[in-house]
Amino acid sequence: MHLTTLLYPALAALVAAQVTFRNSSQTILRVDTGAYGPEIEEFHYYYHQWPIGLAVSSTGRLFVCYTRGNYAFTVGEAVNKTAEEPYPSAEFNLPVSQLNTSFNGIPFGSANPAGLINVQALYITPEIAGKRPETLWVIDTGRPTIMDAQGKPTMPYGQPGGPKIVGIALNNDTVYATYTFPASVHYPDSYMNDIRFDLRPNVTESGMGIAYIVDSSDEGRPGFIMLDLGTGESWRRLTQDRSVLRVDRDVPSYQGHPFYQRTIGMPISTLREGLDGIQVSPDGETVYYSPLTSVYLFSIPARNLRERDTNPLAELEAKSNVTNLGQRGGDANGFEGDSNGLIYQLMPEHNAIYYYDPKDLQTHGYVRDPRIIWPDSASIGADGYFYMNINQLPYQPMWNNGSDERTYPGAVLRCKLLGDGTKITSLS
Ligand SMILES: *[C@@H]1O[C@H](CO)[C@@H](O)[C@H](O)[C@H]1NC(C)=O
Ligand SMILES: *[C@@H]1O[C@H](CO)[C@@H](O)[C@H](O)[C@H]1NC(C)=O
Ligand SMILES: *[C@@H]1O[C@H](CO)[C@@H](O)[C@H](O)[C@H]1NC(C)=O
Ligand SMILES: *[C@@H]1O[C@H](CO)[C@@H](O)[C@H](O)[C@H]1NC(C)=O
Ligand SMILES: *[C@@H]1O[C@H](CO)[C@@H](O)[C@H](O)[C@H]1NC(C)=O
Ligand SMILES: *[C@@H]1O[C@H](CO)[C@@H](O)[C@H](O)[C@H]1NC(C)=O
Ligand SMILES: *[C@@H]1O[C@H](CO)[C@@H](O)[C@H](O)[C@H]1NC(C)=O
Repeated sequence: MHLTTLLYPALAALVAAQVTFRNSSQTILRVDTGAYGPEIEEFHYYYHQWPIGLAVSSTGRLFVCYTRGNYAFTVGEAVNKTAEEPYPSAEFNLPVSQLNTSFNGIPFGSANPAGLINVQALYITPEIAGKRPETLWVIDTGRPTIMDAQGKPTMPYGQPGGPKIVGIALNNDTVYATYTFPASVHYPDSYMNDIRFDLRPNVTESGMGIAYIVDSSDEGRPGFIMLDLGTGESWRRLTQDRSVLRVDRDVPSYQGHPFYQRTIGMPISTLREGLDGIQVSPDGETVYYSPLTSVYLFSIPARNLRERDTNPLAELEAKSNVTNLGQRGGDANGFEGDSNGLIYQLMPEHNAIYYYDPKDLQTHGYVRDPRIIWPDSASIGADGYFYMNINQLPYQPMWNNGSDERTYPGAVLRCKLLGDGTKITSLS
């Protein structure tokens, strides 16, 4: 028996009746439920590999990518609610034994352009009648995470051929385009993290459209990589501009806990990811972006990114035209955009999705739910749903001194867009 009960029976009764925060059923105080916004559906469960990116097609096919490592495949398609299979084929997903190589003792990723190494992101562009099939675009970083002799995870450098953008026709599941990059555009320590497209004929001389890619390079020089889909030429813009750099010593909070990175064999550190979120406005005029470890949202006129190096002022004009749109209320991991021009931002610190509305220049809450434990990549479907991957990333072994604290299943959650929003089709 507790001492209090012996000495002060009345007080003991009072203590027993106390309402604690964790049991709020009887409190008269206002309580944060951890949730708001449209109803969330649990659309798909992951039981076998932890996902990174996803994309949903016009017919509701769900494609997923996984970074590796040692996973058997890096792109998959959901075959039912609880399983995915390699896509477009098991063979096109290079086996784990072929992901890396080395020169003079320096580890490099594979240089193989004809198979997938480590896919970070997916994006689907709609069919353009008579010109281009509905296409699943695949970003292969060419940089797998491997274990060195000391059992410490390392990411080998990318070499030309490995880092690539692959286009797969969804009408026949066939690879129809592969773009690689010279070492002067994709540096050895670059890391392509996401991609958006403007496929309208008038944005490039070639008439085949352009891709805007973010290079989030933890190690070095983040910035934008542009790719002319007609000529295959690529170039960079805003490399190491202040707006694309990580903010040093960023300590986010996840589930209410301040978070530091604990990587095996390394001193305690903080996440160092630069330019990560990207979205193009429905009129193609503006590119919104932000580094992962930053609370600021930026934009730049898309034409400044399209400008080629033949214009000696291209880089200065781009830097001069960056707009800081202010803070948004936390770090953001990945963007999406809808036909209403809203810029959705995945907010792992808040178990939420926010959106920036260019009409009122403010960021707003869209949906929040305790199940949103690290939203990693989102895809807006032609069905007017917002799909997001949930992968519990802060609990992965790479960030927890080797201990895997994730619990299966991971999930795809979905909810209805606001104001009858849907997938952007105006850039096709
Ligand atoms: C919360 O408190 C109520 C009222 O005392 C009780 O009925 C209920 O079992 C408690 N719930 C938990 C989870 O302890
Ligand atoms: C889902 O597909 C997987 C792989 O093809 C299969 O093993 C599993 O039995 C299927 N589950 C259901 C519920 O159909
Ligand atoms: C690939 O990485 C593994 C793990 O570090 C290493 O054992 C192997 O030798 C590497 N392969 C090549 C060809 O360098
Ligand atoms: C698949 O479709 C694409 C686009 O329509 C076409 O270019 C390609 O030839 C087709 N491939 C096969 C194997 O049918
Ligand atoms: C491309 O054409 C559309 C109209 O079809 C126009 O609104 C847009 O401004 C043009 N873009 C450029 C870069 O010329
Ligand atoms: C913004 O970019 C345009 C070209 O697209 C350029 O003419 C203009 O000078 C730039 N603004 C500044 C302040 O450099
Ligand atoms: C990681 O785990 C090892 C082995 O248990 C321990 O010696 C080391 O101090 C840990 N490092 C951190 C940063 O927690």
